Amino acid sequence: MKATLVIENITNLATVSGDRKPKKNKEQKDIGLIENGVIAVSEDKIIYVGKGKLPDHIITDEDTVFIDATGKLVTPGLIDPHTHLVHGGSRENEFSMKLEGKSYLDILASGGGIHSTARATQQASFEELYEKAYRSLNIMLEYGVTTVEAKSGYGIGDFKTELKQIEVAKKLNENHPIDVVPTFMGAHAVPLEYKDNSDAFVDKIINEMIPYIAQNKLAEFCDIFCEEGVFSIEQARKILLSAKSHGLIPKIHADEIVSIGGAELASEIGCISAEHLISASKNGIKKMGERNVIAVLLPGTSFNLQEGKVADARFMIENDVPVAIATDYNPGSCPSENLQLMMSFASITLKMTPEEVLTAATINAACAIKRENEVGSIEVGKKADIAIFDVPNVAYMIYHFGINHTNTVIKNGEIVYKKNGRN
Ligand code: NIG
Ligand code: FE
Repeated sequence: MKATLVIENITNLATVSGDRKPKKNKEQKDIGLIENGVIAVSEDKIIYVGKGKLPDHIITDEDTVFIDATGKLVTPGLIDPHTHLVHGGSRENEFSMKLEGKSYLDILASGGGIHSTARATQQASFEELYEKAYRSLNIMLEYGVTTVEAKSGYGIGDFKTELKQIEVAKKLNENHPIDVVPTFMGAHAVPLEYKDNSDAFVDKIINEMIPYIAQNKLAEFCDIFCEEGVFSIEQARKILLSAKSHGLIPKIHADEIVSIGGAELASEIGCISAEHLISASKNGIKKMGERNVIAVLLPGTSFNLQEGKVADARFMIENDVPVAIATDYNPGSCPSENLQLMMSFASITLKMTPEEVLTAATINAACAIKRENEVGSIEVGKKADIAIFDVPNVAYMIYHFGINHTNTVIKNGEIVYKKNGRN
């Protein structure tokens, strides 16, 4: 078989290989490490992964591109399974309000926060949203990310804006090297005009929006912000069951700020993932473990919110909950595209080991967006989505935080990013 690309002399090759299922408990730290590894790629697929030299049946010729990864770490392309990628505007004005002591939920209740981004997203043209998100994707790619989930959710009652966000995500998926996976999040905040009648808005989502999204295959997942003062457990149950009955896969922003039983609901409904979980109850976490609900943790958000709490990743791992991590990139609670920083935060603030963190940002992240058969590990037959880092090992990458360690990013077998070395 002929190789179009070979990465050789890899000091540390973290394949994160396994059986295409989320890794939980002790498996979470199994990153399938190969020292002195080698990878061969043909077109867009991985055709060989091993140690030392390539075997004879892998043929190379003058067209084969060789990359020498001496002294480097090679991992699957990183996956960011929770972002609010497509949005208008920014919220640095709220940054100073927060410094003066206003909380995230106070700002939201007074018509700012998500509402403010909804106004900016409604006003922005398709092209403006596309250009802004494209720039963010470029940053993500530079940090080694090759697949990103993108939620709608800044229409807040204005369905046209939701659809605009989803169409932008679709066009980005077609035109940008990063794969963009769309999630419908019509229930992100209660529109101000429905403030005293949020059930009527829930009905609108169920009767009008979800059927339209499902029929037109505009998203694979449906998410909701289930939080005190936003959507209640009962409302989330209704919306997610309706989504499920229309073939959308349920996800939930659960127990981000106040513990209201979001983790329990995720387990009851069989959500693919529950996200945030900063305030999730121990009982809810145990139930998630029993039903294999993936925890998507967002350590950049807890860092930025500074509400004195972080998700209990250790308890989750001990109770068989597979953990993924993501940026939650959005203009309010986490205005940063840098997944490498979140990986360091996951170790520093959530006490996950570097190996657990790498699994969280690769195969478990792939499972959270149902891409485990294509990406998330370096295995024969999978897409050649590969990141090469200028670090000797995984621990070093996580420990030396806040800078970009990426050397080269390969997407579908093509080199799509290379660091400009300074001579
Ligand atoms: O995941 N919590 C709800 N949604 C986002 C924040 C969105 C925003 O503030 O604009 C989150 O934190
Ligand atoms: Fe979010």
